[in-house]
Amino acid sequence: MENIKVISYGMGAVGGFIAKFLLEKEGIEIVGAVDVARNKIGKDLGEVLGLNRKTEIKISGNLESVLQKTDADIAVQATSSFLKDTYPQIASILKHGVNVVSTCEELSYPYVSEPELARELDALAKKHDATVLGTGINPGFLMDTLVITLTSACEKIEKIEVTRVMNAGTRRVPFQKKIGAGLTVEEFQKKISEKHITGHVGLQQSISMIANALAWKLDKIVIQPVDPVIAEKAVESKDIRVDTGKVAGLKQRAQGIMKNREVINLDFRAYIGAEEEYDSIAIKGVPNINQKIQPCVHGDIGTVAVIVNAIPRVINAPAGLYTMKDMPVPSATPEDMRRYIRTA
Ligand SMILES: NC(=O)c1ccc[n+]([C@@H]2O[C@H](COP(=O)([O-])OP(=O)(O)OC[C@H]3O[C@@H](n4cnc5c(N)ncnc54)[C@H](OP(=O)(O)O)[C@@H]3O)[C@@H](O)[C@H]2O)c1
Repeated sequence: MENIKVISYGMGAVGGFIAKFLLEKEGIEIVGAVDVARNKIGKDLGEVLGLNRKTEIKISGNLESVLQKTDADIAVQATSSFLKDTYPQIASILKHGVNVVSTCEELSYPYVSEPELARELDALAKKHDATVLGTGINPGFLMDTLVITLTSACEKIEKIEVTRVMNAGTRRVPFQKKIGAGLTVEEFQKKISEKHITGHVGLQQSISMIANALAWKLDKIVIQPVDPVIAEKAVESKDIRVDTGKVAGLKQRAQGIMKNREVINLDFRAYIGAEEEYDSIAIKGVPNINQKIQPCVHGDIGTVAVIVNAIPRVINAPAGLYTMKDMPVPSATPEDMRRYIRTA
């Protein structure tokens, strides 16, 4: 069997990490790389990724010509969180009969925020015999797929509580900036009102995916405002110092309400100086299930893994739009990637 041919689409931080990992993976060949950034277009992928070698793959600014020239099996897309932005990009790829796995948060469960675009993507994918999946570490795994998997050992469920606490001090500077670390409270609130800080995109999608798996008809999903976490003492990372009283990061909660009762509660906190980092899932039911992962799964590494591990599952799936809930139980793919491809 030939290598699986992949287009790397979006060479930002996460797209770059994904491309680096793909270059190492047996059974995978990157056949094209695409980004819009002028300072990347025309350069060798190896140079853009900071490798000490050439890959002979030039970053292109023209997706269409890459699709025409490459006969790819799948495109791995990491460009934006919002489906309105990623829809035209994904549609162009599907029209070539090429599968897509994307980090776009809204695509992880698009029926809730963009039902019309979801219907169009499903129709387009089916028309061109391709498959599309939105996934990542969160949304895509920790606050939804893993939760759903754990519920399979329960006879009854009353309530699900999921918490992710991250010490942003050990993460990339762009991530620290994205959560407002180092700002005054006023600056933070201004950035929130201007939508320069969005909080965690995906809580609504994770709640909807869990509810859908359990066939719970929620009355509503409440997304609480994004609140700053204020440093009680000075904290610092390698690059940012946060003085007492300034913003160390953010926290956000979302709830799924059914019959006037909170049945799902997701709690996301990312800030510099978090002393305990963890991912916890508490299911109140029969039996109760309490799971805690310590430290929490590293966001970038986890995203790269979930995306790359999804490649064979997306290729194996029938045409259409899928969420992680619809896919076979996920797993790592430590061997040659071709071993995971189902042949007739
Ligand atoms: N589901 C999850 O668990 C998960 C985890 C991590 C990240 N994500 C999401 O994945 C996305 C990528 O993350 P990131 O940190 O790598 O973001 P990023 O650093 O902003 O990178 C995005 C890259 O895509 C490029 N781009 C934007 N529009 C494009 C287009 N139309 N065609 C080609 N390239 C385009 C950007 O170029 P410019 O810089 O010139 O705009 C940039 O190089 C973000 O939305 C992030 O929130 C999801």
